[in-house]
Amino acid sequence: MHFYGTQSVTNDGHLMIGGVDTVELSRTYGTPLFIYDLELIRKRARGFIDTFNRLGIKAEVAYASKAFSCIAIYQLANEERLSLDVVSGGELYTAIKSGFPAERIHFHGNNKSYAELELAFDTKIGCIVVDNFYEIELLKQISEARKQPMRILLRVTPGVEAHTHDFITTGQADSKFGFDLNNGQADEAFQKVVNHPYIQLLGLHCHIGSQIFETDGFSLAAGKLMQKISIWKEQNQFECTVLNLGGGFGIRYTEEDHPLEPQVYVEEMIKTVQENVKEYKLSMPEIWIEPGRSLVGDAGTSLYTIGSQKTVPNIREYIAVDGGMSDNIRPALYDAKYEATIANKANEQRNFTYTVAGKLCESGDKLIIDGVLQKAEPGDLLAVFCTGAYGYSMASNYNRVPRPAVVFVESGEHQLAIQRESYEDLVQNDLPFTLNKVSVK
Ligand code: LLP
Repeated sequence: MHFYGTQSVTNDGHLMIGGVDTVELSRTYGTPLFIYDLELIRKRARGFIDTFNRLGIKAEVAYASKAFSCIAIYQLANEERLSLDVVSGGELYTAIKSGFPAERIHFHGNNKSYAELELAFDTKIGCIVVDNFYEIELLKQISEARKQPMRILLRVTPGVEAHTHDFITTGQADSKFGFDLNNGQADEAFQKVVNHPYIQLLGLHCHIGSQIFETDGFSLAAGKLMQKISIWKEQNQFECTVLNLGGGFGIRYTEEDHPLEPQVYVEEMIKTVQENVKEYKLSMPEIWIEPGRSLVGDAGTSLYTIGSQKTVPNIREYIAVDGGMSDNIRPALYDAKYEATIANKANEQRNFTYTVAGKLCESGDKLIIDGVLQKAEPGDLLAVFCTGAYGYSMASNYNRVPRPAVVFVESGEHQLAIQRESYEDLVQNDLPFTLNKVSVK
């Protein structure tokens, strides 16, 4: 069994995380429950930040909070001196509510509304990552009306797309995000903002994909951005002060995944940027990155209670848990793979093959197909590893299943970070039917 972070097993077979017994957590908070190992999140954050510091490179490591967003995680991110990437008014609002310093918030999105952009100006965030021409027009309107400056990056698509071990270069990147670097759109966007009295262009941004295990794609993309920056410097005396290379650093979900350490990605990026700085005679920009999954993914564990079982003779053995695609849509949506253990029998032999089904009314609601586990009985606890990124944040109320609670653990202590939704929560925005024109006899 592979353990993440502070996980261990007690003599009586209980899975421990952050020095806390998961069986105890299930009694205190109920299931399904997300458990976050704060020590591991801190370690990942420091892995990125310390590498930049060690190499003397000015940087911001922005937590891509779409991976998991709530007030407590933003407060932890602030404690670790991370910056923050938000992608909606909702995430921005949550960040501000948490007390996160606005100047370290970066706002992303391919269709930011007027109201969302106004919120960014109201709260005086550090940077808007501008995605398209419509947004440039909105930004001009808002900044001119308020006579208020705003720092921006232009998001560009470099024609490099990376996924896990492969990356592909496409001439014309077919993406809903950003300005194409190759077809003149990025140059047009640059011309529209470069001499604006309130819009302050810091540099360029790109994000080439997610769950990436190689550094080549990042290097290639960085090279393309630097080349463009050198042209703008030559033609317009533009000084680029920030190069944001996005997120996408891979993590281990199963034994098939072999991620690199955070510092390896960072070292490679820095090397490429430095080479380009030298080649094009530029000044060294700050390097910003936006890890999401690699900060919180393997620090999160989902704890479920096992209920019903079903044997399909000679075909499959099912066990069902008290959650499923409503708290983890990734297996159904992306065919994502997970490993698990029975948290109250973690020291027993794993001799049984089970398919873990959720409780939602959908045949595709399976969390693990043919996973090898200890013998399962009703009432046992199933811990599914590595659910910290895009689990809770993509949760839904399908079937009116309340969303789980989230608990933080560290050094033998635990605290609730998000309360379990109640049935009352589920109906709080529902209104009674009043257009009842048909009289019921
Ligand atoms: N920056 C930008 C501009 C992004 O679009 C993303 C992710 C990130 C940073 C963070 O990427 P990460 O380090 O977490 O890979 N729901 C999918 C992942 C969608 C990623 C969207 N963008 C999943 O569950 O795998």
